This record gives sequence, C-alpha cells and structure tokens, in this order.
Amino acid sequence: MPSDSKFPPFGKGGNLIMLQDIKMASKSGKGCLPILDGLDHIQIDDNYINNYINGQKRCRGAQNMSMKSFDRHCRDEKRVDAGFAGNGFYGRLNHRFQDYVADFTRSYSCGRAQFELKRDHSRQVAVESAAIARGIGLAADEVGLAQTIGLLHDIGRFPQFAEFATFNDRISVDHGDCGAMVLRSGNWLAPLDESDRQVVETAVAYHNKACLPDISDSRMRLFAQLIRDADKLDILRVIRDVFQGPDPQSMTRLPPGMDVSEQVRMAIVNHDIVAVDAVRNQIDLVFFRMGWFFDINFDITRTLLESRGYFGFLRAMLPDTARIGDALRAMDNYMGVSGIGRS
Ligand SMILES: [Fe+2]
Repeated sequence: MPSDSKFPPFGKGGNLIMLQDIKMASKSGKGCLPILDGLDHIQIDDNYINNYINGQKRCRGAQNMSMKSFDRHCRDEKRVDAGFAGNGFYGRLNHRFQDYVADFTRSYSCGRAQFELKRDHSRQVAVESAAIARGIGLAADEVGLAQTIGLLHDIGRFPQFAEFATFNDRISVDHGDCGAMVLRSGNWLAPLDESDRQVVETAVAYHNKACLPDISDSRMRLFAQLIRDADKLDILRVIRDVFQGPDPQSMTRLPPGMDVSEQVRMAIVNHDIVAVDAVRNQIDLVFFRMGWFFDINFDITRTLLESRGYFGFLRAMLPDTARIGDALRAMDNYMGVSGIGRS
C-alpha cells in the first residue's frame, strides 16, 4: 500500500476482502494486459470530480438522458425480478449494492464523489447490459443475468479506491479480478446456481482486460462479451458528458499534442485496439477511445453507438493533420464495414 494513501486500510464488514488476496489475484495473470477502461484515463482529482458532477447535472438538464435511463432502470428491475432467479433477487441485489456503496462513502468520506461516480456508472451499465441482452434476443432470465453483471462489474472499484486512492489498475490492483473476489468472498451470488455464478464472476473478472482470452464455454463467452460492450457504451457517455461540461480540460493531464503518435496511428491503421502505454497526448487519447470500436461484439451495440453519435463526437475533437487524416480514413473504412457509421 502506498505510504501516502489518503485512506486507511480497508477491512470492515463482510463486503470487503483482504488486500493480500486481491494482490495475489492480480498477479495470477490471465494472458492479457490490463486495460484502462476509460475512466482510468481521467486523472481524477477533486477539481475534476466537482466539474464532472456539475457538468453531468447540466448535461442531464440539457439532454434529459441520464434521468430517463434511471427511470428505465427502475422499470427494468421490476420486469427482470418477475422471472430472474425468483423472489426479487435483482431488487435485493440492488439494495445490497447501494448499501455497499454507502459503506464506502461513510468510511472514506473524502472519496465520496469517486464512489458515487462509480455507483452511477454501474447502474447505467446495468441498463445498457439489459438493453443489449434484449437486443440480441435473450430470454428474460438471461436479461436478468446480464443486468446483474452490469450492476456488479465494477464492484472491485470500491475497495480499490479505498485502498489506493486511484482508479489506475497499473499502480494499484486489477479491479476486474478484485471484483470477482469481492463477489465470492461476500457471497453476493448465493441465490444463483453454480453455472450462473461462474458466468457472472468470469464476466466481471474479464470486463477490463485488453482482450478476451479464449473462453470455451459459449454462454460464459457471450456474457463476457456483452459486459464489455455495455461498459464501453456508458464510458463514452461519461466522456461526452464531461466534455460538454464546464471544464473539459479537467479530464486529463496529458499534454494536448500536435499530432497522433506513430504507434497509435499504426494501431488504428491496422484496426487494432490502441495499447494504453502508447498514449502520449490528448490526440492519442481520442484514438485510444476510437480503438474501442474495434472491440465491439454485437450489432445492437453498433446501432446504439451510431444513434448516439459517439464516433462523430470523438472525431470532432481532432485537429486536421496528414497523419490524423490517414488514421481517420482507416477508421472510416472500418466504420463503413462494421456499420457504425460516421454520425
Ligand atoms: Fe471496470
């Protein structure tokens, strides 16, 4: 643990797990490098958080989008509970999740904004997960499972921030592995059968990896793919909200940069996701996020991305240089083929 951590060591309550266990899990390795899932890339400080919250409120007023999503989430909970795991499992899970977040908020009050940011993100990803699950024609129980994974996918973020005061996995713990351990040690999934438990734990553990390893079980693979799509959808919403807020520059401390770095340009030209270590400036960061479009698993996600105009939003942030034009042509080729479009 860093000696200058702003937070005392965690360890209270059945929701939390031993730091040593998390560190061991992080070292276990899954064959893929950890990825910064977007919010990691935001250098989060108090100034940023205040801007984020103020910006988000303004954006909500302007777009009336987030509140609609929350209303839908509440309706979805009732619908899902009618069939999934019986006896209102999702409703109880959601209450426990809110209590879990409240525990951290109370115990580590200087991290309140960060915990609330992750709570809101988790609820939105639950909405996105259910929407994708319905969009690909899954049955009601499977929609419930997808929604459960969405709500729980970042559960490792809370002990991570409490312990290390950062969301950067590279200097703390792998929050996907950490989340799977939280679920196991806290018996969060006890009402589910063993097969469903494994599906949830696998999806949570792998949601943040740079790439999915080969998962031979087709159902496990499906849900692991689904949460990655849902997570990206909501991270792009958060990024757009911040950029449309009062202080978009609070989002990163990277230098603005004059052009795209060669390693990043090459990744885009080859339709590869961009390695986070290659990101040198804010232009690279835009392409890093564009690289997520290469890792979309379902047509419904592509449709949602297109309808929300996220690619056009990212594109509009870039200056006009020959190298950037080169990379954007490669993106356009991919988007044309994949059907995400240039909206
Ligand atoms: Fe995550």
